Amino acid sequence: MDAALAAALAGPRGANPLVGAVILSPEGEQLATGYHRGAGTAHAEADAISEAHKKGVDTVGTTMVVTLEPCNHVGRTGPCAQAIIAAGIAKVIYAVDDPHDPAAGGARTLRSAGVEVLSGLALDQAFDLNRDWFDAVAAKRPFVTLHIAQTLDSRIAAADGTSQWISSPESLADNHGLRGLIDAILVGTGTVLIDNPRLTARDADGELSHRQPLRAVMGLRDVPEDASVRGTDGRFVHLPTRDPSEALRMLFDQGVRHVMVEGGSSILSTFLQAHLVDELIVYLAPTVLGSGTPALNDLGITTLADAQRWSWDDAGGGAVRMLGEDLRLHLRSPRGSAGNAGNVVQNKNLVSRSEAAEHLTGGH
Ligand SMILES: NC(=O)c1ccc[n+]([C@@H]2O[C@H](COP(=O)([O-])OP(=O)(O)OC[C@H]3O[C@@H](n4cnc5c(N)ncnc54)[C@H](OP(=O)(O)O)[C@@H]3O)[C@@H](O)[C@H]2O)c1
Repeated sequence: MDAALAAALAGPRGANPLVGAVILSPEGEQLATGYHRGAGTAHAEADAISEAHKKGVDTVGTTMVVTLEPCNHVGRTGPCAQAIIAAGIAKVIYAVDDPHDPAAGGARTLRSAGVEVLSGLALDQAFDLNRDWFDAVAAKRPFVTLHIAQTLDSRIAAADGTSQWISSPESLADNHGLRGLIDAILVGTGTVLIDNPRLTARDADGELSHRQPLRAVMGLRDVPEDASVRGTDGRFVHLPTRDPSEALRMLFDQGVRHVMVEGGSSILSTFLQAHLVDELIVYLAPTVLGSGTPALNDLGITTLADAQRWSWDDAGGGAVRMLGEDLRLHLRSPRGSAGNAGNVVQNKNLVSRSEAAEHLTGGH
């Protein structure tokens, strides 16, 4: 399970959880490893099975150890329970139950097909791996990534409003790569009126990427008819609200499961203040302005004890990376923050410790 948890960390956070899987021989030898590379790609179980088959390994009679209950539904990819049965795997040990109703039931399907299933191994670590994702699922809201491209002194634009580009070309390319993975990108009306951004995902040559996010603008003012963000592909939505929870509800209702909030300061601040951010990606340029638009406005924090203390996130390429001249910082939401704690506890109860112990010791 340690190896499966480590493999899971290679994937990106977002609409889907991080999941890792390891296939073991009956003697306990590690035969193949797989992980999930994000929405629309193979699940960890299918990835591990395909790696095993590529290596010429016979999976009949093997054991699979996986960090999340195998799914039972046909989403963007086929159901993992069926793939496991088809591969002849004899035993599955997973850590934590899948909280999705449509996906739940993978364990039952496996048992009905004669596969031995145990659950609850390394439950706490597997839950912690995806605690923000579990929280978003329970709250029926999209997973929220906050993106900030800033100078060393935390400015996102100069005093005259210029902000293109604070980041290195490598950071911009990284950001466009992320835009191609998410379901929606969100900015405030202020950014649209000042910068007139396109908010599309583009490759190094400026060509539109195959997958484009929904472009969402939040705020009460109208979005001008000739604003670039409207585009011509119909993938634009105006969210006439200043309430971040309401904006997320509107996006969720449109099928959005992962949104990247790109700015400006007012929108970044309102999401942070509401504890509605799961993941923070900061591109830090070795540049000093001394004046201009600060990345964040007042968050209502007046004493150090109330500071939001974020954790470094090793998932999806690591916590700290150089991108050209910039530093890319990757962080997870503060543990037990006011907006998250309740749901985390509620979710954890989905798999009770006694149930887990019973599964682990009691076999079927
Ligand atoms: N470097 C970067 O990563 C980056 C990214 C984006 C933007 N920027 C820069 O950010 C600057 C714009 O920042 P900004 O703060 O003026 O614009 P903003 O955050 O994009 O939009 C602010 C507007 O959003 C609306 N709004 C919606 N919900 C709100 C809430 N809860 N609280 C306050 N306002 C809310 C308000 O307009 P309504 O009256 O319409 O409701 C407000 O005036 C620009 O200079 C741009 O270049 C930098």
